[in-house]
Formats: sequence, C-alpha cells, structure tokens
Amino acid sequence: MSKQFKRTLITSALPYANGPVHIGHLAGVYVPADIYARYLRLKGEETLFVGGSDEHGIPITIRARKEGVTPQNIVDRYHELIKKSFEEFGISFDIYSRTTSDIHKEMASEIFLKIYENNGFQEIESEQYYDEEARQFLADRYITGTCPHCGNERAYGDQCEQCGTSLSPTDLINPKSALSGSVPVMRKTKHWYLPLNEHESWLRQWILEGHKEWKSNVYGQCKSWLDLGLQPRAVSRDLDWGIPVPLQDAEGKVLYVWFDAPIGYISNTKELLPNDWEKWWKDKETKLVHFIGKDNIVFHCIVFPAMLKAEGSYILPENVPANEFLNLENDKISTSRNWAVWLHEYLKEFPGKQDVLRYALTANAPETKDNDFTWRDFQARNNNELVAVLGNFINRALVLTQKYFDNYVPPIGELTDYDRETIAEAQKVKQAVEQNLETYHFREAQKEAMNLARIGNKYLADTEPWKTAKTDMSRTATILNIALQVTANLAIVLEPFLPFSTQKIYTFLNTGKFDWEKLGSFDLLPEGHELGKAELLFEKIEDETIDKQVQKLLDTKKQNEADEYKAKPVKENIVFDDFTKLDIRVGTVLECEKVPKADKLLRFLLDDGLGKRTILSGIAAFYPNPEELVGKQVCFIANLEPRKLRGIMSEGMILSAENADGSLSLVEPTKEVKPGSQVG
Ligand code: 2FM
Ligand code: ZN
Repeated sequence: MSKQFKRTLITSALPYANGPVHIGHLAGVYVPADIYARYLRLKGEETLFVGGSDEHGIPITIRARKEGVTPQNIVDRYHELIKKSFEEFGISFDIYSRTTSDIHKEMASEIFLKIYENNGFQEIESEQYYDEEARQFLADRYITGTCPHCGNERAYGDQCEQCGTSLSPTDLINPKSALSGSVPVMRKTKHWYLPLNEHESWLRQWILEGHKEWKSNVYGQCKSWLDLGLQPRAVSRDLDWGIPVPLQDAEGKVLYVWFDAPIGYISNTKELLPNDWEKWWKDKETKLVHFIGKDNIVFHCIVFPAMLKAEGSYILPENVPANEFLNLENDKISTSRNWAVWLHEYLKEFPGKQDVLRYALTANAPETKDNDFTWRDFQARNNNELVAVLGNFINRALVLTQKYFDNYVPPIGELTDYDRETIAEAQKVKQAVEQNLETYHFREAQKEAMNLARIGNKYLADTEPWKTAKTDMSRTATILNIALQVTANLAIVLEPFLPFSTQKIYTFLNTGKFDWEKLGSFDLLPEGHELGKAELLFEKIEDETIDKQVQKLLDTKKQNEADEYKAKPVKENIVFDDFTKLDIRVGTVLECEKVPKADKLLRFLLDDGLGKRTILSGIAAFYPNPEELVGKQVCFIANLEPRKLRGIMSEGMILSAENADGSLSLVEPTKEVKPGSQVG
C-alpha cells in the first residue's frame, strides 16, 4: 500500500543561466514535471510546482569571461530568456525565480549556519592550485594541461574532453592557469566539508531498503555510489562568484554551487508563499518529488538529503524520477557546440506548435535509456498521430454534428452492443493513464491517452454515421453523441500533455474545463448543447519545413568541424633528392569544363609554357561554374605518369588544398608568373 500524502511539492532542476534551454532539458525534466503538475491539479490535489535558474557556479563565470562581461550580466540575460521561453511553452510553474535573489542568499546562509551549529561540517585544510598572477585559487575547470592518458595538451583539471577521462587538477602534466596562463602553485586553503561518510548508513537504509520503487536507473546509480563508500564533500570554494560563506574566518570563500542550488527550491517556495512555505518543506504529509536529469542523481538522492538531514527540520524526497539523456540526430546535445534545438528558436520558428514538441518529446522520452530526437520523427509524430488520429477524429465528430444536427449535441438513443463495448473500452483509459502517471511513466501514459482518440476513430469508421444519416437519423444521433462525449473525454485526458490543444477542444465544444474525475463519463455534453466553431486542431508539417531544420543542423556540424579542425601530423621526412624528383609548375587555364557523365571531374586545358596540356581533376563539386577559372593560374605536377580517365588522357595532377570540411581549393600563385614556371 503506497503512502498517502496531503499535498505534492514538485521541483524541477534549476537550469544553469549560462545559455538557453534546449529540447534535452525539456524531455528530461520540464515536460514530465509539467505533465505531473497539471495532472495533480486537474485531480484537485494540493500541488506546488517550483522552478528557477541556477545562477552560480563555474559555467556562469566561464561564459562571462568568454564574453568579457560580468557573471551578473550573463545570468540576467539568460534568466529572462529561459523564464520567457518556459512561459510561452506552457510549463506551468507556480514560481520561476533565481538563485541570485536576496531571499535565496538568506535561505542558503541560514541553512549553512544551522548545519554548522549542529556540528554538521568538518573543516579541512588541503593544498590547491593557486594563480599568483591572478591572485586566485583555481577551480578545476580553470586549470589546463596535458592529459596523462591520451596526451591531449588542452585537457581541463576536471576532465579531458578528448579521451573522456575524469581528472583531478594534480593529474595534469604541465598545468597552466586558464586565467593568466601562468604556472599555478600549490597553496593551503581551508574548506567546510559535508561528511557524507557519516550519513552513509541511514542513506543506505532509506534508499536501498525504503525506496526500492525508485526507477531502476536512479536506484542503481545510488547503489553504486553507496557501495563505493561515501567521502566528505567540500561545500565551499575559493571564488568571487557565489554566496559568501556566512562565517567570520571565511573571506574570499563562497558556497559551492551544488550546496546553494537545491536550496533554491526552498527559497523559491518561500518567495511565493512567505507565510506558508514551511508546510511544503517540513510537514511529513507533503510528498516531495524532484524531476531531474541523470547527471544530477547523486546531488538529489545523496548530497541534498544529507544536507537536509544535517539541518534537521526538513522532509526528504519521496521520489526522484530522473531521466536519461536525449540525443539530437544521433549526436550528444551540447551547448558549447551549438548542437541543440533551442526552445526560444523553436517557439519562433514553429509558432502555435508548442503541443507538437511536447507530444514528440514525451512520445520519445528518455525514461529508461538515452533516446534520439530526429526532425523526421517529429514530423511523423505530428502528421501520422496528431493530425491523422487525434485531429482527424475530433474534426469528423464536430463537422458531422454541424452537418446533420446544426451544431447541437444530438440525443442519445438506444445503445447497441458495439456502442457499449466502445464506451467500456474508452472508460478503461482513465485507470491506465492514472497508473502510468502515478508511477512516472509519462510516455506510456500519453500513449494510453492517445488510445482514446484511436478508439474514437475506429468507432466512427465502423459505425459510418454519414451512411446511417441516409436512413436512420436517430442512430446517427446516438453515434455522434458518443463521438462528442469521447471528444470531451479527450479534452480531459490530454490536458496534462497537450494543454494548448485541449484548450482549443474546449472552445470547439463551447464548454468550460472538466475535472479529472469526470473522465470516463458519457454525459459530459447534454443533449441540445450548442457547440462552438470547429477548426483544425493540428496541421500537416511539410517536408520543406523539416528540410530547413535538418539543413540548419548540417550547417552547425560543418561549422563545428571547421572549429575543431586540427592539422594532420606531418608525414615521415624525405631527403632533398626525393623532393627534386617532383616537377611542379604553374599553368594558365585556357579552358575548363565539366566532364560529361562524370559528376566529380573537371577537364582543364592549360598553357604550360611549352604547349597545351590536358589534366582532369576531381574538384567539380567545389567549382560549380568552371568557366570562371579560365585565365587563372594553377599549380600542377608536370611529370606524373599520364593516365586515362573516362577515355581522356590526363597529363599530370592539379594541386589543391583540402579544407576542414573536406572541400577543395585550387592552389594559385599570389602573383602572376610565366606559364611553365617551376615551383620549388
Ligand atoms: O545540472 C544543472 O544544470 C544544474 N544547474 C542543476 C541544478 S538542480 C538544483 F539543485 F538546483
Ligand atoms: Zn585524455
């Protein structure tokens, strides 16, 4: 028997305000959290959904340094952008605030002090890298050096991005400060540590015995952390961006971002409900649920609970339904490589289509394993499911009612066995959806909800009211009454998933919102009720729209390849005599044209100073207007054995340089020279 609670507090991970929000964030955290919040509210349960921006930490300072602005500038910009995009996308936070707020600073300091007074910290001195020029201790990310595993000279103090190994700064060979470029020195520093080792035994009991129902990815990650044995973790840093450690001997020290960020959930609750926030955090009858991505599991299941326990007066999460990651077109989503579908761009490029993205992301949610978002799948979900199943059913029910009953709900007559079976089938949807939502299976829940539209479609196809209308109007009335009641049920069951579209359905039906409890009722629309004006609920997304998005990603990939380009290692040395064997010369292009039936080849006719020479070159793709090359000078190898290509004798090889993206560019002397001049 699961525990009964009075109210539910839903939190969703606070995104770093160092960039906009993308589909990975949405699929992993915000869409499922929003579905859950909307569902509970619709059931009439006391619910609070808290969000906000995470505005401290190294990702913010790195972005600020890159742009030459202050960290405050960065967080102001992105907090506003993120907040606005969430609003437009229909993420129904009760509050979306930020960790640079005064309330948050007070709350984080207060919790730190309470733990401190409870003797919940250890003060530990250690040696850390210090930049004497910049006069700062260095965060791991601010130290670069050579990776001891793969030799990458640009590895960071926390990770080598070339071989993926986790590092600590002292692993790096030839460490350098990213702030000043100087060689850092070791210096003593003191920090406050949360002794997680002392919390290990109750955490083991609480998670491994008490929460076997947690998702297997979450439970599994916790178990491996606990089995490895927990270590004390520093909760302060030597930095100038963050909340100052609220102690006397702590100058220059701030709270570690992972100490203050989760407290943001509490501060934001207090900001919203200054007089009533404590019941949400301290009453055992509150069910606390954290929605996060898998990289945040240890912080929400181990570190934050240990902090709350050390403080002493807070409840612990009842569940942490973390998701895995969403990839984009088979590649890891990355803010720095711009490999993402950004929410604010989507909203601009697909106006009014919030629900299409919500639907596609939930249908493909990375609930048990990493999943892939592709634009083709997005298009198929829209065209084959939202348009062809849901939109089509609702449109038929409404248009037929308009046609045969002047837009009034027709009376229900005697039911056939098939009508009863359909109704019974439709009534099963409620329990299926509830069961899935209450166990955080959002994908399956959405599938079950959409099943109701499939049931409706099948019912219309089987009963053919357009045919019965020729002979039996009372039968037609019954069929359409049932179809309209299914439509009203769809508005209820889909509300958590597709809030914009269900709002439209209510407008079409000309009725107010129904509670969740009404789901399964077949008397939602009384006989004689006048319907509103029907419009199409979804529209087809054409290939060109999708092609444009795919092209945008291809352009990004090209740009990334160019940015990441590294020159190939130099080939083995040769002796001078080997070089002199090559006869490289300059020629002037007299003619240049595509070789018929050979996509890649251009035929050059050169003036080589001695006469005319024909050379074929595989660069047609990069010179779409070959005639424009006439009159230019190129370099070619004059003494390469001639060979026949496509029936034409090619007398040498024209030199070209290969760019990062594989494109070729002809090599040309910077000043005009006589044809036949030797290159050497
Ligand atoms: O991983 C992240 O993006 C963090 N900013 C999440 C913080 S969640 C919470 F603790 F605030
Ligand atoms: Zn490496």
